[in-house]
Amino acid sequence: MNVSSRFDVTGFGVIVTGGASGLGLAYGEVLAAHGARVTLIDVDAGALSDQTARLQREGLDVRSAVADVTEHVALDRAIDEAAATYGRLDVAFANAGIDPGVGPFGAWAGGARPRVEEGALERYSDERWNRVIDINLNGIFATARAAARHMRPRGFGRIIVTTSLAATMVEGAIGSAYLAAKAGARHFMRAVALELAAYGITVNAIAPGFFVTNIGGGHAHDPDVQAAISKDIPMHRVGRPDDIKALALFLASPASEYITGQEVVIDGGWGLGIAD
Ligand SMILES: NC(=O)c1ccc[n+]([C@@H]2O[C@H](COP(=O)([O-])OP(=O)(O)OC[C@H]3O[C@@H](n4cnc5c(N)ncnc54)[C@H](O)[C@@H]3O)[C@@H](O)[C@H]2O)c1
Repeated sequence: MNVSSRFDVTGFGVIVTGGASGLGLAYGEVLAAHGARVTLIDVDAGALSDQTARLQREGLDVRSAVADVTEHVALDRAIDEAAATYGRLDVAFANAGIDPGVGPFGAWAGGARPRVEEGALERYSDERWNRVIDINLNGIFATARAAARHMRPRGFGRIIVTTSLAATMVEGAIGSAYLAAKAGARHFMRAVALELAAYGITVNAIAPGFFVTNIGGGHAHDPDVQAAISKDIPMHRVGRPDDIKALALFLASPASEYITGQEVVIDGGWGLGIAD
């Protein structure tokens, strides 16, 4: 058996939400570098056009669509247009997410719990809570729903959700909006996996640990933050978007056909492990 042919994604139609930066951009890059046709969807029009132009200059088949994952009509349109352009939709990365910073409970993995001002819970606004849930959970629902609409009739598909190691490991996981959304996304992923298993569609999640991206205002680029976090990571280094590419290619390819409903933890140096 030629195993490498199982990783062949040539000609696949792919969409990536949050594709203009960080992990989403890495997903798009690796799929396009292996011959897939990729639509990067993002709310940041400037970064999207810069990255799309860069990848096109490298000869990759990449296009872009500006859409906010909380605006489901616009998101549906962007995904429908991508599928129509390619005549197929094989892979959807439901990846867009924001981290609004420490929530009202100061949840953190390891080390000292950050001090949270007294009354932070009472002052936590509906607007902040709802925005985080709307992007990090409802956006995944809407992306998976649109993808399923295109994949089910063809009997093939790969839906890959970006969750977070934090929702598994961090104290206070039921407390902050980010962690609640990510834990909810994991449950949703499993339910969709069961629903779509009979149609040749796998649904899995990648749960990153700490990766150097622009999330949360870009604090991950700070070498002092990286040094502090690295102490809690067994291999003592933080993750880079390139580290996640092989896993993304595997989950997007025919090679992963037996794996569905799983959350793969990739902890910036820890390597791979299957959660629960
Ligand atoms: N970096 C990490 O350490 C880490 C850890 C765990 C989970 N994650 C998850 O990885 C995913 C990608 O984040 P990242 O680290 O690459 O961050 P990033 O900020 O570098 O990239 C996120 C992208 O999503 C886009 N985006 C934000 N809101 C959007 C919306 N409403 N609609 C469309 N696009 C939107 C942003 O413009 C940005 O381009 C997120 O779901 C995040 O929660 C990241």
